[in-house]
Amino acid sequence: MRKTYKMLSLFLGIAFLALVLTGCGASSSGGKRIVRIGHNQATDHPTHVALLEFERYVESKLGDKYNVEVYPSELLGSQTDMVQLTQTGAIDFCVASNSILETFSDNYTLFNMPYLFASSEAYHASMDDPDIVGPIFDSTKKAGFEAVTWIDAGTRNFYTVSTPIESPADLKGLKIRVQQSPTNVEMMRLLGGSATPMGFGEVYTALQSKIIDGAENNEMALTSNGHGDVCKFYSYDMHQMIPDILIGNCAFLDGLSPEERAIFQEGFDLVNQVEREEWTKSVEAAKERAANDQGVQFLYPDTAPFQEICLPMHQTVLDQYPDLKPFYDAIQVHNKTLASEGGAGNE
Ligand code: GCU
Repeated sequence: MRKTYKMLSLFLGIAFLALVLTGCGASSSGGKRIVRIGHNQATDHPTHVALLEFERYVESKLGDKYNVEVYPSELLGSQTDMVQLTQTGAIDFCVASNSILETFSDNYTLFNMPYLFASSEAYHASMDDPDIVGPIFDSTKKAGFEAVTWIDAGTRNFYTVSTPIESPADLKGLKIRVQQSPTNVEMMRLLGGSATPMGFGEVYTALQSKIIDGAENNEMALTSNGHGDVCKFYSYDMHQMIPDILIGNCAFLDGLSPEERAIFQEGFDLVNQVEREEWTKSVEAAKERAANDQGVQFLYPDTAPFQEICLPMHQTVLDQYPDLKPFYDAIQVHNKTLASEGGAGNE
């Protein structure tokens, strides 16, 4: 039954995508250029709210020429699919996790390192620092896409169906879903769990059918994606702060006039700002809903043993990609000035 359902939704997804990208989805409608943006979150998620703000803003300024369309919930495919579609110009923008971008450019490995940022303040300051993100965001231009802004995705922590994670030893033998990135697989290996890479859209079913024992993500995954219906323990080990990245097709961006480009840029800045404001509120609400309605128990283990295991990865990554060292050092400056003031779970 589930297989039939999966096949059917896959078929419908492909049919929808074909429809959008051809015939009625032609890139101009009524003389206006359609600007397509895909992402993988539900419509209640801060990312969607922020992109709708972008749509409103750009259309308020350039509505006679551009018609912005936002496609949520993997309607245009998984993040990996959407990055490829953006690369070729089949769509114009998509939101991809920094983890996924690691498979397109080694430079993105930097922001996937576990325990890279000392606090969420240091994380935000680093991602707002043009000297750190600028060269990395531009580094995929030859491949046809560039990053236009970053989007907060909080802190990633482990959550499981039935095993409370109080220390790394508790991960032993557990199958934990990770994003499809070599850094995440290696982190899981070091921590002793069994890394199971898969796309975001497959996680709920994998948890429900016990193909995996748990996953790792921010709190929104519990509510917005329903993982808290199945996983009853969420453990603040705080292993990563991985941003989402809004990427755009270079040919589209380069084809904008300087005036249009400036307005799009204001729109990208708005995405970042609106999402950040929404994020804080949404995470608070998600924690409350997960605890009260889904019966999720939040745990606050000592993060030191997790850090101790993961920290050697920094040197391994820097040895492998020495070009990342200046950016890594610049992050350490933010870490020094903005060392953690809050505890685990403080966004
Ligand atoms: C977060 C992130 C998404 C990502 C997902 C994942 O929700 O915002 O961009 O796809 O994690 O774990 O795959």
